[in-house]
Amino acid sequence: MRKALLTTSCTHALEMTALLLDLKPGDEVVIPSFAFVSAANAFVLHGARPVFADVRSDTLNLDEKQVAGLITANTRAIVLVHYAGVGCELDPIMEIARRRNLAVIEDNAHGLFGKYLGKYLGTFGCLATQSFHETKNFTCGEGGALLVNEDRYIERGEIIWQKGTNRCQFFRGEVDKYSWVDVGSSYLPSDMLAAFLLAQFDARDRIQMTRQRIWEHYYGGLKDWAGRNGVRLPMVPPNCTQAYHMFYLLMPSREARQRFIACLERHGILSVFHYLPLHLSDMGRRYGGATGDCPVTERVSDQIVRLPFYNQMTEAEQSRVIRVIFDVEI
Ligand SMILES: Cc1ncc(COP(=O)(O)O)c(C=O)c1O
Repeated sequence: MRKALLTTSCTHALEMTALLLDLKPGDEVVIPSFAFVSAANAFVLHGARPVFADVRSDTLNLDEKQVAGLITANTRAIVLVHYAGVGCELDPIMEIARRRNLAVIEDNAHGLFGKYLGKYLGTFGCLATQSFHETKNFTCGEGGALLVNEDRYIERGEIIWQKGTNRCQFFRGEVDKYSWVDVGSSYLPSDMLAAFLLAQFDARDRIQMTRQRIWEHYYGGLKDWAGRNGVRLPMVPPNCTQAYHMFYLLMPSREARQRFIACLERHGILSVFHYLPLHLSDMGRRYGGATGDCPVTERVSDQIVRLPFYNQMTEAEQSRVIRVIFDVEI
């Protein structure tokens, strides 16, 4: 990318994108309903209206075929989430955005070091965001980054990041004092958190290889069981290199999913569901969301369960999880 600015969270990095794009009341942003709250809230904070799109049933990423139909004269941006670190269908989406002159923002919270057609996720949109929350591959507890891929956003990005001042220019010796020049806030993490993160980036290959091993152990261990029980495993299209962020299962029904979570819990194993459809949340309904608007999101939200997945997970721990899963009555 042209510039990376560490932030206090991915949420804050998303808020910075809304400021950089000067989003205002009346503007619309197309967002997948199967996403984290911040992907909508960051824009709503500035008065923009979220327009919810459904996701593809294979990758759980924004359904690119829906995008054109949701664009109006007020649309300013498309927000992408590379769910589980697997890239969206970027070629057709970037083409629609180019034709309609829309900004693309990649919420790449899951996708650091993943690739689409050999190019890193987070380098396609004009702006992209990362998360270093404790649940991510690389973490400083709470943290994030704004990735800037177009030069025109760098100077103002730094100003917004530095409380609306040109302090970055002052530090580089480009101005002899710094002052208030634009809107902004304090989006910087402390040096201590940055140092904590840097040590993990130094170990990037080891961390990613460990996560690949964990992901593949789950996939190999559960493939036959899933086939026999009507459970679907994650799908990674051949044009994507995934970021090995998450391993999820799609259970046959909500009831089966709840039984599964409860059974694992009885064995002391934490498995969790994921996003609730944004369009059906209290806020989403205020923007007109209704049952049936995004059927894939609604179904997947009921069926998904995520398995334990952390950098220190041992092979023995993982084998135990798999053995317990074999005994769950679906
Ligand atoms: C796709 C996505 N975007 C954004 C966030 C928010 O990240 P943060 O907690 O760093 O603000 C999350 C949280 O897990 C997420 O899953």
